[in-house]
Amino acid sequence: MKRLLSGIILILLIMALSHTSQARVTGVCSGCHTMHNSQAGDYMAQTLTSGPWAFSDDTTPNPSLLLYSCVGCHTNLSTTTKTEDNVPIVFNVADPVNPLAGGNFHYLIADGQGDASGHNVVGIIGADSNFSGYIPGSTTTYSGNQVTCAGEDGCHGDTTAGNDELAGIKTAHHTNDTGGITGDPVGLSYRFLDGILGTEDDDWEQDNDNTSHNEYKGAASPGTDTISSLCAKCHGDFHSSTEVGSSSPWLKHPTDRELKDSGEYADYTTYSMTAPVARPNLAALPETPDIVRPGTDVIMCLSCHRAHGSPYYKMTRWDNTADMSGCVVCHTSKN
Ligand code: HEC
Ligand code: HEC
Ligand code: HEC
Ligand code: HEC
Ligand code: HEC
Repeated sequence: MKRLLSGIILILLIMALSHTSQARVTGVCSGCHTMHNSQAGDYMAQTLTSGPWAFSDDTTPNPSLLLYSCVGCHTNLSTTTKTEDNVPIVFNVADPVNPLAGGNFHYLIADGQGDASGHNVVGIIGADSNFSGYIPGSTTTYSGNQVTCAGEDGCHGDTTAGNDELAGIKTAHHTNDTGGITGDPVGLSYRFLDGILGTEDDDWEQDNDNTSHNEYKGAASPGTDTISSLCAKCHGDFHSSTEVGSSSPWLKHPTDRELKDSGEYADYTTYSMTAPVARPNLAALPETPDIVRPGTDVIMCLSCHRAHGSPYYKMTRWDNTADMSGCVVCHTSKN
């Protein structure tokens, strides 16, 4: 009995320890990989199909012997946004409860919403009918017709490594990043976004709390390792000084620019989860995460948008067609 008890305590301890480190995937190999895509004559790999949404046997094996595609693993048919195995969920078929920092692709398929509430990612929905082959905020046409999670039409991984989703992300999931995010290789880049810096909240902001959140890299002038520069890889015109301007009066809303330490911006001092800021120097963060420092901190694309999708028009963080709650976080005198 005593032995059993100490055994149980040991197991609980191991579980607790393995839960504190979220730097890389954990769990038995067979939870995510299949050696032959065959077990007792059954296919093991699973594919996600719509109408109605369900997983079914996949006769075609996945690269890296995976049980699912990117979308498959990061999907939940129900409302859960973080599974028991600690998979961050970005596509819920049912209305997500506590969506993660990137938002959720659910809103693309939700009643009364659709194309304009997210990036139309392959595997979830067809191409966005409003943009047939061109990217808003770019003079270049889009090589493919649709974005993918990774690969040359995607956001995650090294997007120059070819159009195989796994090519540019290989080894990232097993990379130990407890030493910190350095931007190289992909596994040590912020959320596997090649070359982008940031610090990663353990629960992907599921708790939506301003005392523990992601820290995004920004810069006082359009940089290359910032979260806004990731968006600018495709939406370059919304980030470049030529198009945006470099001082007031601006031509497009600035990003990668400091919040001035004067006027209305000086009153934004408590970090808002509705309209967050980026930090120019991740080695010199404020004393506590809930502080905003006008004169230092920076406006970014994610001050107003979710990266994957949101319940609102154009993936904004608040319903910008109906209220101005996000704008007045910074433009405090317009409240
Ligand atoms: C077999 C399941 C599985 C597949 C397939 C999979 N992922 Fe993941 N992914 C996970 C798990 C589990 C985690 C959480 C790891 C952790 O604890 O940090 C994760 C984390 C992530 C993260 C967040 C990393 C971080 O720093 O928090 C990103 C981004 C991501 N995956 C993208 C992808 C892309 C893109 C693909 C396809 C190329 C993909 N995933 C395929 C299971 C999977
Ligand atoms: C929670 C899901 C998960 C578990 C558990 C898991 N893997 Fe993986 N593994 C992935 C994903 C996702 C990829 C593909 C994306 C990547 O390489 O980042 C991958 C890629 C790999 C690769 C090719 C890339 C590389 O890093 O070399 C190998 C080899 C591998 N896994 C072996 C294993 C072994 C062995 C185990 C068990 C000890 C295991 N995996 C457990 C999710 C998992
Ligand atoms: C790989 C290229 C690529 C990257 C990187 C990218 N986007 Fe997009 N984005 C697109 C394309 C293509 C569309 C139009 C089709 C669609 O909505 O999927 C789009 C559409 C949008 C829309 C309008 C949504 C709609 O459907 O009307 C917003 C807002 C947006 N992107 C914001 C962002 C933000 C913020 C980032 C950075 C976190 C970003 N994008 C990164 C390619 C990209
Ligand atoms: C995270 C902070 C932040 C948020 C949120 C924000 N802004 Fe701004 N905005 C700024 C900064 C910083 C500037 C540049 C001010 C400067 O230094 O000239 C700016 C500039 C502007 C300008 C141009 C002013 C000029 O002098 O040319 C307008 C207009 C504007 N914002 C409107 C909005 C609206 C509307 C919203 C909501 C949809 C919004 N902003 C949300 C920080 C923000
Ligand atoms: C101050 C808030 C704010 C910031 C910062 C911001 N956006 Fe937007 N964005 C909006 C709003 C609001 C819309 C809806 C259209 C409009 O009002 O112009 C929009 C629309 C878009 C669209 C859709 C354009 C179309 O033709 O449908 C894209 C793409 C986009 N934003 C990308 C970005 C990128 C990339 C960045 C960073 C470089 C960025 N946004 C920064 C608020 C913002």
